Parts: sequence; structure tokens; C-alpha cells
Amino acid sequence: MKNTKMFITIKSAAYKAGQILLSAQEIRNSVTEKEGVGNFVTQYDLNVQNFLRKELLADFPDAHFVGEEDTVHEDALHGLAFIVDPIDCTANFVRGMNHSAVSIALARDGELICGAVYNPYRDELFSAQKGEGAFLNGDRISVSERTLSEGVFCFGTSPYDRSLRARSLKIAGELMDRMQDLRRFGSAALDLTDIACGRVELGFECILQPWDFAAGALILSEAGGIATQLDGSPLTLDRPCSIVSGNRKAHAEFLALGLSE
Ligand code: IPD
Ligand code: CA
Ligand code: CA
Repeated sequence: MKNTKMFITIKSAAYKAGQILLSAQEIRNSVTEKEGVGNFVTQYDLNVQNFLRKELLADFPDAHFVGEEDTVHEDALHGLAFIVDPIDCTANFVRGMNHSAVSIALARDGELICGAVYNPYRDELFSAQKGEGAFLNGDRISVSERTLSEGVFCFGTSPYDRSLRARSLKIAGELMDRMQDLRRFGSAALDLTDIACGRVELGFECILQPWDFAAGALILSEAGGIATQLDGSPLTLDRPCSIVSGNRKAHAEFLALGLSE
């Protein structure tokens, strides 16, 4: 594993940010609601993002910083850009579910080059650099070989956009007919890393933001898997898009079902 400075920086920042999640207290007292049903933000989302901005830009002062909690987002497509979700799955965080993650990606001119997703509750640090493979706590990981019929899937319900609810459940229903079972864990970033390390075969969500998937998508592709939009087109780092991710067999089988409409 080649430990470049940028790789070391994002892994260390993700780990330190995770300690803030672990030390959180009285989380429910720090909740406010953002736009969209059930879209919570806590003081910890803001604290972790501020911490990450300082930590990452200290080493790479010229990089752009795209963080979920900013109201105006910087350019993710030119030069170096950090794409950061300080707490992926705030809803789990607020409920004490112990299944949330810090997600940090680094892109250069619109191409993902480094990613780290840290689940502090299990002390699991997933990481990847472009062309160098994917790792869990330093050990190389890879996707499973299972086909759709042998596999389980996880999915996101696009909770902040109720107009996508029926469509999400329809796709989930189609997959239930063809796969073994489904899971709804709550963190899009951890769904991607669960697929990357072979725990789950497929995942989808009708709309996700770049900070939800950027780090996880690189980790997945470096683990031998693939993530695209539901119609097979590439993910977009400068705007939200749909996503289907999986090992290559399950992903190809999903696309062949033509469920993107
Ligand atoms: C959300 C979680 C959730 C997914 C949503 C995301 P947030 O992130 O990843 O699983 O279904 O689409 O927005 O808002 O808790 O960081
Ligand atoms: Ca998120
Ligand atoms: Ca978040």
C-alpha cells in the first residue's frame, strides 16, 4: 500500500473526526431540522465539518472543500477538492444506533483519487487510493462473487424527497423477488463499504449527494466493484444523482433488469 501524504491526511482526519462522534453527549439537545422531512443536523455535524475543514486544509491549503453542511458549495471538478460528509446518517447518530460514518474523498480535476470512510463504533477504517486497492484497517478487501439470486441488497429510501418513495420501494420489491433479502442500515457511505468488503452484494438509492458516495464509490471500485447511476451512466461529483453499486456480476444483472425508469 503506497502511503502518500494525501492518503495519510484523509485517513488520520477521518479517524480523529470519528472520536468526536464517540465522545458526543446529549445529542438530542443539539438537533435542528434542515430542509426536507426528517433531515436533521446537530451541533456535532457542524463541529466535525469545521474540524475536518481545518485539518484537511492545513495540509492542502489550495484544495477546494465541499462539505455537506456548507450552504454554498465550492467547485468539486477542478483542481484538488475534498468532498466531505462529516456524519453520514445523522438520523442513526441522533437515535444512538451506532451506525454512522465520517466520509472524506479527494478528487483531482473531477477524478476521485483518495477516499476514507470511518465507522468509529466498530473502529472500521475503509480506505482506498486510485489504482492501489481498497483496505479495511490496513487489510486488503474485495467484493463478493455472489450473483443477484445468491445475494442480499441494501438500499437508501431517499428520505428527504418523498416523491421518490414509491419508486424506491418498487425497485426494492423487484429485487426482493430476485434476491435473498434486503437491509436498510441507514448510512449510504457504509452501504458502499459493506459491498466493498463482500458483506452485501448490491445497493441502490434514487438520489444521493456527492458527499454521501464519493469516498465509498472509490473504495468500492478499488475493491473490484462498481457504482453508477441507475441507468448505468457515471456518477456526478458536482450534483446529486441516483446510484446502484455492487460487485460486477450483481451490478450487471441489475442493469439488465432495466429498472431505471
Ligand atoms: C443520508 C444517509 C441515508 C440516505 C440519505 C443520505 P445524511 O445522509 O446516507 O442513508 O438514505 O439519502 O442523505 O443526510 O444523514 O448525511
Ligand atoms: Ca450523508
Ligand atoms: Ca451528513
